[in-house]
Amino acid sequence: MPNLTIDGQKIEVPAGTTIIQAAEKLGIEIPRYCYHPALPVAGNCRICMVEVEKQPKLQIACYTPVAAGMVVKTTSPKVLEARKNVLEFLLVNHPLDCPVCDQAGECKLQDYYMEHGQYDSRLASVKVKKEKKAFSIGPTVMLDQERCILCTRCVRFTDTITKTSEFGVFDRGDHSQLDVYPGKELDNKYSGNVVDICPVGALTDKDFRFKCRVWYLDHTKSVCPGCSMGCNIDIDWDKSRPHTEKKERVMRLKPRHNPDVNNYWICDSGRYNYHFIDENRILSPQYLDKIVEWGEAMERVAETIQSTKAERIGVLASAQLTNEDLFVIRKLFKDTLKAHVDFRVPEKPGDSDDFLIKADKNPNTAGAASILGAQADAQTIVQKAKQGELDLLYVFGHDLVKLFGKETVAQIAKKTKLFVFQGSNINDTCGYAHLNLPSSVYAEKDGTFTNCQQRVQRIRPAFFPLGESKGDWEIVSFVAGQLGAPLSYKGPQDVFDDIVKTVAGFAGMSYEKIGDQGMILKK
Ligand code: SF4
Ligand code: SF4
Ligand code: FES
Repeated sequence: MPNLTIDGQKIEVPAGTTIIQAAEKLGIEIPRYCYHPALPVAGNCRICMVEVEKQPKLQIACYTPVAAGMVVKTTSPKVLEARKNVLEFLLVNHPLDCPVCDQAGECKLQDYYMEHGQYDSRLASVKVKKEKKAFSIGPTVMLDQERCILCTRCVRFTDTITKTSEFGVFDRGDHSQLDVYPGKELDNKYSGNVVDICPVGALTDKDFRFKCRVWYLDHTKSVCPGCSMGCNIDIDWDKSRPHTEKKERVMRLKPRHNPDVNNYWICDSGRYNYHFIDENRILSPQYLDKIVEWGEAMERVAETIQSTKAERIGVLASAQLTNEDLFVIRKLFKDTLKAHVDFRVPEKPGDSDDFLIKADKNPNTAGAASILGAQADAQTIVQKAKQGELDLLYVFGHDLVKLFGKETVAQIAKKTKLFVFQGSNINDTCGYAHLNLPSSVYAEKDGTFTNCQQRVQRIRPAFFPLGESKGDWEIVSFVAGQLGAPLSYKGPQDVFDDIVKTVAGFAGMSYEKIGDQGMILKK
């Protein structure tokens, strides 16, 4: 393991480590454009040059491996001068677009120029202009060739990560330009990632362009609910966008680095799956088309439970719920009332690949299995309800019309005393349920999901639940209180601490220990 010194600090790193990686370990960020830790090294932008003692020329930190006894300077006068020159070169043909560029505020050209720029331009010649300014290169992304600094991150992403090779650099010298190959579109399942890795505003996201300046955004760490992979994401949101017609709070989703799950990437279907957070929501409890108070709604559920037997109560829980929600469902309906409870409805598998996308479109199937087990059977519960063998059917989020057909659901509505739908968004089943209860979406929840690797991961609330909606665990606790069997949890963390004591796989875990990387369930 070579020992070296960077900016006066000593460090020992494994052989093969590059200077940029070693510096990062010391908390020193060397500027970079073409370097990205998850892509092959290209070494073409030269912004990362550093001074290495006893070497006559500056070296690029992203490509140069460390050696024993090496002494590196990352901010010497020679290095700073070189950075200025590289920036001057990169800006020769770059347009002065910052006021209208979507990348402004998170653009590495802006950032480094403010740190190292040549503030008085020495250039007299006219910039080379490209024929087209900003144009569509596929369903999700726009390209502005003038803003491109030819770092080739996007080329290497599509060559080595998606292996779809849509991008190339065409022509020579100051006429070189980045484009998609003739007849090709950027249309792969991970296309949005090229916007994240483009260090400037050359590639922008059609869904986010001109929606919100990035410095107005708040960021909340969460997990994508789109499939059982549980990719780590940041929810970027802003509640004060009066000009956005739909008054959406979420502006965009971004991948959050987790080397054990999704590395730096997410799929497009996960990335753009956020409009449901503010669209088509159930906003108040409703009994037979009439808006009612929470107290009245809970009383109706409690009365039905009190007037029936355990074998006449069926509950369809869901793998869309958090571990905390599911545990409270288990406590009340399974452990206390001994009702029929299952979460495994017959869903058709979705698309999948050998990278991130999984066919199971639920974020918490592993968690539901570990917490609820598999005794009852969802299909049998539905059949019982249809045949009039249940007085109460309590459904969490599932669209039974889509799963079992209108006729079955109409029969259930006719044959049960109380048919409850608890969920965040309106679906066809709501029209048949006697009682609709509004619950919060994942972006409004604190809790955990367990992904297909059995990794327990935290989600956090970005903002308050919309309308009168509440957390699923809270609604079920409300029912328990109404029945005189209160579950006295103060919040999801309190529920989680009880899961840890009760469910063997969670032993030794806590929200603090799960942290940002997650923890694997014990076998
Ligand atoms: S479009 Fe962006 S990521 Fe691609 S080469 Fe240009 S600057 Fe780099
Ligand atoms: S692969 Fe699955 S979890 Fe990851 S972003 Fe896509 S839908 Fe979400
Ligand atoms: S970051 Fe090292 S040459 Fe580009």
